[in-house]
Amino acid sequence: MVQIFCAYLKRNYPVNQHMNSTVEVCFVCLGNICRSPLAQGVFEALVKKEGLQDRIKTSSAGVSGWHAGSPPDVRMQQTARSHGIQLNSRGRQFQASDFQQMDLVLAMDHSNLDALQQMRPEPELQDKLFLFRSFDPKNDGDLEVPDPYYGGDKGFETVYQMVERTCPKVLQHLQTKLAKKA
Ligand code: 4NP
Repeated sequence: MVQIFCAYLKRNYPVNQHMNSTVEVCFVCLGNICRSPLAQGVFEALVKKEGLQDRIKTSSAGVSGWHAGSPPDVRMQQTARSHGIQLNSRGRQFQASDFQQMDLVLAMDHSNLDALQQMRPEPELQDKLFLFRSFDPKNDGDLEVPDPYYGGDKGFETVYQMVERTCPKVLQHLQTKLAKKA
């Protein structure tokens, strides 16, 4: 009797795939100690605020492995902390194989984008690799997040402002991807 009931449930109320689907985004810069860790931290906080942490996975990486294993730059950590964001990532070099598991890969500048494009043939990347600021509602045609590493503190705050206003648009995009996966 129980088996018949279960078979009935399975046929008429199939497990909702939508409930199980996840998407993954990776933010990529050069060193993975300034721009992309900030984007990861800000985006993770937003995802958590929206209660989507079981559906949206977030990571960051560098096109170089120069700072592999290192925490984010202290100046970036301080700027993030001043806005209530804790950065917990460790530097990691992006690998060509990462593209397979990612739904979205966002490069911080054109040089990062070029490096990523060289890792994979063009068609495979068309719907998953973009410049981060292509989602910036105030990009005014400038699609780069400037590298703050060799500049002063003001550069870190500028990066924060760009990241903060862009992350909600990235979230919208991923929610659309999630809906399509359902
Ligand atoms: P990021 O900044 O790419 O935003 O992490 C940089 C960090 C380190 C270096 C350059 C940029 N570096 O030359 O070591």
